[in-house]
Amino acid sequence: MANAITKGALIYEGKAKKVFEAGQPDHVIQYFKDDATAFNAEKRGTIVEKGVVNNKVSERLFRLLEDAGIPTHFLERLSDREMLTKRVTIILIEVVVRNRVAGSLAKRLGLKEGDAIEPPIVEFYYKNDALGDPLITEDHIRLLNLAAPSVVNQIKAWANRINQLLVPFFQERGMILVDFKLEFGLHHGKLILADEISPDTCRFWDQKTGESMDKDRFRKDLGKIEEAYQEVLRRVCG
Ligand code: TMP
Ligand code: ASP
Repeated sequence: MANAITKGALIYEGKAKKVFEAGQPDHVIQYFKDDATAFNAEKRGTIVEKGVVNNKVSERLFRLLEDAGIPTHFLERLSDREMLTKRVTIILIEVVVRNRVAGSLAKRLGLKEGDAIEPPIVEFYYKNDALGDPLITEDHIRLLNLAAPSVVNQIKAWANRINQLLVPFFQERGMILVDFKLEFGLHHGKLILADEISPDTCRFWDQKTGESMDKDRFRKDLGKIEEAYQEVLRRVCG
């Protein structure tokens, strides 16, 4: 199948990925770049081989979720940096699931970094760079017409289920899944998981050392960024 796929025109370029036509109206190709941004692109850089890591890690996790009955846009990995996916209309909501206090939650609510969140929480952010992706409520989602209430309920249920599947997966690999961000889309009107799940979109802490193994190393200038991404690849796909 992979041989028959021809990469067509660029449809869209985001901060970390490009999306190309795949010669079939229902499908697109996601190309993973090494470009890294943080703080709404105020900080920019390159993480060497990040695209390869994020492509392969996302493949592994999408397969895991598909096998567990969560529909995703993943079809097949085409190369080190390319993935064939279903074409979706992205829902403009960033869905964050949190198992531990970190990042913007610690800052916003004055909570202590690392404290367990039991049961985990699901948050919604408006995917809008001009506004800096603000935190929103379900009422705001209705006001902005971002998704129907039934779709929001399905997203929340799947986000919790995905968390239940991913926490033990990473635990078995010596990693604490602190939090992560998901994006969903509509494919022929059906809700499916889209985007990526990678060290760019998750926080992982090493179980033994507590060290960050994700984009926080870039955000906070912690060093050994490439090494951390390669270690995630080794533990997830090795
Ligand atoms: P936050 O603590 O900064 O709100 O981030 C929560 C999670 O979402 C964390 O795992 C990183 C991820 N994330 C993204 O994938 N994209 C983003 O633009 C931001 C701000 C966070
Ligand atoms: N990707 C985000 C941005 O640059 C920020 C982040 O992941 O921290 O907009």
